[in-house]
Amino acid sequence: MRKLKIDTKAVLSPLSGVSDLSFRLICREQGAKLCFFEMADANMLTHAASKNRDIFKTTPEDQPIAAQILGADPDVTLAAAEKLLELTKPQFLDINAACPAKKVVKKKAGAHLIREPKVLEAIIKKLTDNLSLPITVKLRIGYNTYNEEAIREIAMRCEGEGVAALFVHGRTWKHAYCGEVTYEGIKAIKEAVKIPVYGSGSVFSPELAKKMLDETGCDGVVVARGAMGNPWIFKRIEEYLKSGQLLPEPTPKERMAMCKRHLSYMEKYKESRLTNKIGWMRRIAIYYIKSLHNATSFRHQVTSAKSYDELMGVVDKI
Ligand SMILES: Cc1cc2nc3c(=O)[nH]c(=O)nc-3n(C[C@H](O)[C@H](O)[C@H](O)COP(=O)(O)O)c2cc1C
Repeated sequence: MRKLKIDTKAVLSPLSGVSDLSFRLICREQGAKLCFFEMADANMLTHAASKNRDIFKTTPEDQPIAAQILGADPDVTLAAAEKLLELTKPQFLDINAACPAKKVVKKKAGAHLIREPKVLEAIIKKLTDNLSLPITVKLRIGYNTYNEEAIREIAMRCEGEGVAALFVHGRTWKHAYCGEVTYEGIKAIKEAVKIPVYGSGSVFSPELAKKMLDETGCDGVVVARGAMGNPWIFKRIEEYLKSGQLLPEPTPKERMAMCKRHLSYMEKYKESRLTNKIGWMRRIAIYYIKSLHNATSFRHQVTSAKSYDELMGVVDKI
């Protein structure tokens, strides 16, 4: 097994369609020390690598970085991982056994792998035998229900196959992104293995990050929706864990300044077609205005903006 040392308590999660270069840079400026690329689909990578270039875009300051692969077949996943490593140099490669999307589990990838631990093991073995970087796995705590014994067994099998760390979303496939996070599931996995375990699920504030760490004993947390429109969360978690002090929430003015900065990075780095690009930008701007008074009326203004300049004008006015 290749050892992996993760030098932070709060990692930016892989977020399809969100954790692109511009978002990672914004999060890093606000204290994120380790970020994930967006997840890469093994089939897409082997068949049409060029389409994926945008998601692997990076810069020298965008380090350290981890990559994640979504696959159902050991050979295809290895071939895709090799392509991915030609495109970029991550610190480690994560296998996605957590994605709940119907189109993904239908193809027997993502969270489906929890139902077929033997296939998950075969994918891990293929990657650990053939690649020189550390391999990690992102799991959920169950498929339809949480079963402590079953998930502990899967975690131990991952460790046995040489996995260097586990990222655990404390919800089942059935619960997707809703409902309470089952801390016991993360705790059970942490107690079953010796490798680092990072917990995921509703890390929306420094207090919730500490709660997860305290109640599960996990080595760190993974921040996902909690960072969307809220990159300050990384500094605020770090400070809270260090000194118990809660840094103030950003003011509306600071939020809108950050929104503009984020959009300007998207304008600079995102390569998608203009119509797609403005769609992504509007989506990002909406995360920043969510917590403002009058959010509904601002939302209308944002969604009607037809170009980058128009959107920047709307954000300025807000
Ligand atoms: C828009 C979006 C995209 C996501 N993309 C990925 C992904 O590519 N890979 C992954 O492992 N998890 C992905 N997730 C799941 C998150 O990483 C995280 O585990 C989950 O949202 C639970 O954390 P939260 O409750 O703090 O959001 C995604 C979640 C969202 C909301």
